[in-house]
Amino acid sequence: MRKDTNTAYKIYAPVYDRVFAPSFAEGHTRMVEALDAQPGERVLEVGVGTGISLRHYVAGVRVDALDFSAAMLKKAQKRLDKGGVAAEVTLHQMDAHKLEFADDIFDHAVVAHAIAVVAEPEVVLREMMRVTRPGGRLVVVNHYKEEPGRLSRAWDPLRRRMGLGKHFDLLELLQECGLQVVSDDIVNRIKSRLIVTRLPA
Ligand SMILES: C[S@@+](CC[C@H](N)C(=O)[O-])C[C@H]1O[C@@H](n2cnc3c(N)ncnc32)[C@H](O)[C@@H]1O
Repeated sequence: MRKDTNTAYKIYAPVYDRVFAPSFAEGHTRMVEALDAQPGERVLEVGVGTGISLRHYVAGVRVDALDFSAAMLKKAQKRLDKGGVAAEVTLHQMDAHKLEFADDIFDHAVVAHAIAVVAEPEVVLREMMRVTRPGGRLVVVNHYKEEPGRLSRAWDPLRRRMGLGKHFDLLELLQECGLQVVSDDIVNRIKSRLIVTRLPA
């Protein structure tokens, strides 16, 4: 994780749930539905942040949820301590570019509003594919701008420093990585794209 992004999330952590959560609610609900993880299955969630998605997983699912930001993870841990999360969740402080997991150990993987924030999205996706079993589902939800213009791209360096991500063609990247696209929908008040893919069997 870039140092400036880490600093940005230290600032966002205390207010994140109030500022961002309401806009992301629909996407989190639908992404976990699309993941369709069953009791006994193991799921990887990358860039879990304060853990607002975690309450959607059903009991019996094991979720390994990681983030690089200690401040965001602290909020996620508080959420777990309060109760109301049925799944068995383990939090990890980890860089998504270098996953400390063996190959093929997860049934499914998901990344919400973090793939455009990481320094190298392709490296992260390929890491997620490495640790997910063949035929597993990989779901991505991310804010989305149709055909970002030159002005929008000109702001990308500043957006990146603020930890707000950059613009790129997510669908194209997923396909380049060899993922099979199952569905591609628009969700959320802040227009986001929910793309469900499957790893080759
Ligand atoms: C916009 S937040 C999304 C949080 C959560 N998934 C959600 O939907 O509310 C992006 C998260 O990605 C995390 N992140 C950024 N770069 C990362 C990296 N290289 N490894 C792990 N997490 C990272 C940030 O710390 C932050 O918590």
